[in-house]
Amino acid sequence: MLLFMSSSAVAQQAAATAPAAGSAPMLSSEKIALIVLVVAAAAILLVLVTLLRIIKLLSNELHKMYFAERGIDIETVEKQIAATQKSGWQKLMDALTDAVPVEREKDVLLDHNYDGIKELDNSLPPWWVYMFYLTIFFAAVYLLHYHVLGTGKLSAAEYQTEMENARIAKIAHEQALAAKGMGFDMAKLAPLTDAASLESGKNIFVTNCASCHGNKGEGGVGPNLTDKFWIHGGDFKSVFNTINNGVLDKGMIAWKAMLKPQKIQEVASYIKTLQGTNPPNAKSPQGTEYKSEQTGAAAAGSTNAPADSTKTTAPKDSTANQTGAKK
Ligand code: HEC
Repeated sequence: MLLFMSSSAVAQQAAATAPAAGSAPMLSSEKIALIVLVVAAAAILLVLVTLLRIIKLLSNELHKMYFAERGIDIETVEKQIAATQKSGWQKLMDALTDAVPVEREKDVLLDHNYDGIKELDNSLPPWWVYMFYLTIFFAAVYLLHYHVLGTGKLSAAEYQTEMENARIAKIAHEQALAAKGMGFDMAKLAPLTDAASLESGKNIFVTNCASCHGNKGEGGVGPNLTDKFWIHGGDFKSVFNTINNGVLDKGMIAWKAMLKPQKIQEVASYIKTLQGTNPPNAKSPQGTEYKSEQTGAAAAGSTNAPADSTKTTAPKDSTANQTGAKK
């Protein structure tokens, strides 16, 4: 309070000096009036409170004097009354347990005796009964919330939301990476030509792919990768997508689970270098002939196209869909 009054005094002082200085006043006269009013109100309140306390003190003294004149020590009487009364805590405990006091136990004693074990017919403890009522109330609310009104989400729906949130977060994360130039930008996907990448691609191929596609890409369980014929498209993006998403029902693994996009790009680039190498024991061509990107010709002139030759691998995963930055 003192602090407040002194600070407002400072404010008043500042206001008084401001016009003299001729500069724009810091406080408008309205604000000063308000401050003065508040201070005045606070001062009046302080005075009133002090007065009230004095009156109360006086009346207490008069009270004591009144009883003292009649030979009663009112303070000890008050203490005695307080002693006979139960504390709030004790009252609460009594209300919650509702147990019959030990002195009156014979009132609730049942008249049978099991080898010295006697039974008291106490009422159910209210704390327990209230908890039971609470569970009933909870069940009703739960039923309404989740099954009648449908305002609550059941586990399955909650799972769905969380998966959806995670999917959105993943896309956002990938886009953020792409924006920083750290992600894998499908829009700019192109074969790598540097020796290091191709060497790495070759290593990946020999370790992971040769078992099905042959050491030199001549084919085996999997198709020949050195000819011009492709089941799932021979352009670089299609090859990338085939490796990325696999052809699960034909035994080609979706390598995105095992290889980073960068690595898939490397191995796909390596496969591209195998074109026309004519390795021994080459598996006979499968799919549609693909004319190289340079000629710009669409895959046409198929000689032994299977029924689903035009089917390209749909890029279902977000890596493939994500075009990332709008660079
Ligand atoms: C378990 C055997 C197996 C392994 C291992 C395997 N592939 Fe395949 N791959 C196949 C089969 C089978 C197909 C043919 C799918 C079809 O008929 O649609 C195929 C198809 C492909 C195609 C598409 C060919 C076309 O004609 O369109 C490419 C590209 C390819 N694999 C690359 C790879 C690469 C790269 C690896 C290693 C990272 C690899 N594969 C590992 C079995 C395999």
